[in-house]
Amino acid sequence: MNFEQMKAEFLALLQEKTLVQATISQPRQKSNEIKRVKLKPIELRGVYTIQLEYQYERILQHENIALADFAEQFDKLLEQFRQIHAQFTSQNIQIQLSKKNKVLWKSDQQATPKQVNLSHNRKKQYLLDDSKAYPFLIRLGVQTEDGHVKKQKYDKFKQINRFVEFIDDSLSYLPKDRTIRILDFGSGKSYLTFALYHYLKIEKGLDIRVTGLDLKKEVIEECNRISQDLGYEDLEFLVGDINDYNDETAVDMVVTLHACDVATDMALARAVKWGAKVILSVPCCQHELNRQLDTPALDVMLQHGLIRERFASLATDSIRAELLSLVGYDTQLLEFIDIENTPKNVLIRAYFTGKKPSEAQRARYDAFVTLLNAKPFLQNELQNLL
Ligand SMILES: C[S@@+](CC[C@H](N)C(=O)[O-])C[C@H]1O[C@@H](n2cnc3c(N)ncnc32)[C@H](O)[C@@H]1O
Repeated sequence: MNFEQMKAEFLALLQEKTLVQATISQPRQKSNEIKRVKLKPIELRGVYTIQLEYQYERILQHENIALADFAEQFDKLLEQFRQIHAQFTSQNIQIQLSKKNKVLWKSDQQATPKQVNLSHNRKKQYLLDDSKAYPFLIRLGVQTEDGHVKKQKYDKFKQINRFVEFIDDSLSYLPKDRTIRILDFGSGKSYLTFALYHYLKIEKGLDIRVTGLDLKKEVIEECNRISQDLGYEDLEFLVGDINDYNDETAVDMVVTLHACDVATDMALARAVKWGAKVILSVPCCQHELNRQLDTPALDVMLQHGLIRERFASLATDSIRAELLSLVGYDTQLLEFIDIENTPKNVLIRAYFTGKKPSEAQRARYDAFVTLLNAKPFLQNELQNLL
């Protein structure tokens, strides 16, 4: 068998869609940055696709290539590597190439045919698998170099996993015929921003463009460095104040995770004005209402600082949810994560439906804010839409 026949034979086998997994290894040059490439079949939006995992010295990178486009990539891989081990459902194949591309092809039949799993082989409870190394989590210091989640980062790991689950549940509300525009406000170290990019773009192959925005210049610069190093072309980070950020006209999904106090309201207001179809927001440290509360009828509760703080926090999120309903969102307050993980565990989930509120709903809202003496930032921001 010569080199061209080997290529044709291997590609023909792939066309049968019986690949279980394959490893392409033995770099022709020692200096090759990629040490080996793992292949596995996955189904992306109904299309049989080969997922390539490029293994560098320290990091992994993923690329999904539709089977129909794989031949070109295969040529490039064979320019770099001399060995292929491939497992198909009913045979194993080993291909060894000499420096001059003489071919040694060995195959053996499987006694018991293997199954092909076109899903992403994920554990059910986590969309990000805690036994797998993710380059972005290693760079962000959540995982060790060999892919273990650091003990002190486990809560963060759980939080971003849970948040990504909520995003996954919301995908049907997002456009399918164009790039999905996503903003993460108050992204900070951007664990969530990277995680959602990884999950939606790399694992699910969705056409997305993501921006993380935060006040902290150094943190954002580091996020941009990581994003560039990992080749995340459609993920950018900007330094700025949410309240001054008016660069967009239309956004599909806005997320926030623990954006402080009214920063959450600024984000919600922008999301509404840009017509975001999906808003997912886990607020934190709600101080605004705490300062305004003046309700003698509730003093039995509010005289206690701890209760006042918790009450203000719950009332703030209820007001936010109600305001979003009043401007056409189907809104729910959900438990984000178990309370031992973080007490900041309410998630506001809002899907735009355009449904007009009833007069009774508006009156109910007015009565509530009057009772509390509340003058919500978000109400002021949405004034024209209410
Ligand atoms: C508690 S951190 C959360 C960071 C990140 N979302 C996470 O969960 O790891 C809150 C972030 O919101 C940012 N922030 C607060 N107010 C902001 C504003 N007005 N505009 C932009 N970012 C803001 C802070 O700089 C901080 O990084």
